[in-house]
Amino acid sequence: MTQPNKNTSIEADYLQLARIALSGRTQDVQVILRRMAKRYAPIIPELADALTTLLHELPTPTSPLRQQADVPLPVDLDTRLHLLRVETQPVLDHEPIFAPGVKTALAQIVEERRHPQKLVRAGLDPTRAALFLGPPGVGKTMAARWLARELGRPLLILDLAAVMSSLLGRTGTNLRHVLEYAKTIDCVLLLDEVDAIAKRRDDHSEIGELKRLVTVLIQQIDDWPASGLLLAATNHPDLLDPAIWRRFELHMEFPLPDEVAITRFIDGMLAPHFPAVQMWSNLLALTFAGRSFSDVERDLSVSRRGAVLEDISLDEQFGRLLTNANVAKRSRIRIATAIVEQGLVSQRKATELTGVSRDTIRRRTTPKKKKAKQRNGRDTS
Ligand SMILES: Nc1ncnc2c1ncn2[C@@H]1O[C@H](COP(=O)(O)OP(=O)(O)O)[C@@H](O)[C@H]1O
Ligand SMILES: [Mg+2]
Repeated sequence: MTQPNKNTSIEADYLQLARIALSGRTQDVQVILRRMAKRYAPIIPELADALTTLLHELPTPTSPLRQQADVPLPVDLDTRLHLLRVETQPVLDHEPIFAPGVKTALAQIVEERRHPQKLVRAGLDPTRAALFLGPPGVGKTMAARWLARELGRPLLILDLAAVMSSLLGRTGTNLRHVLEYAKTIDCVLLLDEVDAIAKRRDDHSEIGELKRLVTVLIQQIDDWPASGLLLAATNHPDLLDPAIWRRFELHMEFPLPDEVAITRFIDGMLAPHFPAVQMWSNLLALTFAGRSFSDVERDLSVSRRGAVLEDISLDEQFGRLLTNANVAKRSRIRIATAIVEQGLVSQRKATELTGVSRDTIRRRTTPKKKKAKQRNGRDTS
């Protein structure tokens, strides 16, 4: 082949390759590259060699070709159901409230990804895999969604409890499919309820299969590319295989919300619908001590629906909730005093709402406030 011929064919191939790559047809890109490698072998052997090497390495998970590819979502081979939930642009319907430790750790993950060069210069990698621990309904899934949103990446959720419901032998295959797929995308992958793998340990006939499954999971975690963010969540850390546990470089504990967090959460939930929100969020927070955010959310929604159906005001409805709740006397007194001091309600109303006697409330409200009140009273009289 002669020189001019070589150039024109390279140009033509290059253009064709560009066109096909831009339309996302990965398979065709590979066909063309293979053809080019063969055609260039006699004329530009170095290029042909380099192409051949590339093609042999492909498909690697981190290859840009596959990142762009429109690979179909993995499905269960029998049911044909999608194994993954994909949120291309994750949205939160309200902002999460995280405990200070959790907030700091999550913010750091985001910072690490925003300034990768800084880490690289120090010879460090960003956090690759993090494990979220904690009871249900405290924001583990929400944290994954929050991270994906902050990082501007799609969120992929694999619910292991759901995948485990299929035959175990197939679960391994499914698991592998999903992770292979997720690796090709710059995403946040959440393995939700990862303890589900461990939970079936009790059935002895399946021990061999389970061991294989754990091995598959471990291999996949080890192969996870540093560019992706792998998260796993569990309500039962004690059930998790220690080998899996160890694979996550960061362990984050999501605690049940304290009174302050619950108050803020109720504030956020009720504010758009309800003017007297501050008083009620303080009061209602008492009735939800020790409960999760999702419990609070559910109970308040039930209450609001009840009020609408019964045609009663939210004030009345919440009053009932408070009266029926088993709230420690000490907490009632503390909150009754607080809402009076903050000027949210009168002493009489506070007594009505909390069942704390007016005498007690009077005795507990700060003397300074009382004095100020008395002074004001004298001034105006
Ligand atoms: N930390 C939080 N801040 C605000 N809302 C929360 C929080 N945790 C849970 N919720 C509410 O409860 C729902 C369920 O939370 P989720 O993140 O799925 O809990 P988990 O994954 O820990 O079981 C959320 O959709 C949200 O409305
Ligand atoms: Mg969850």
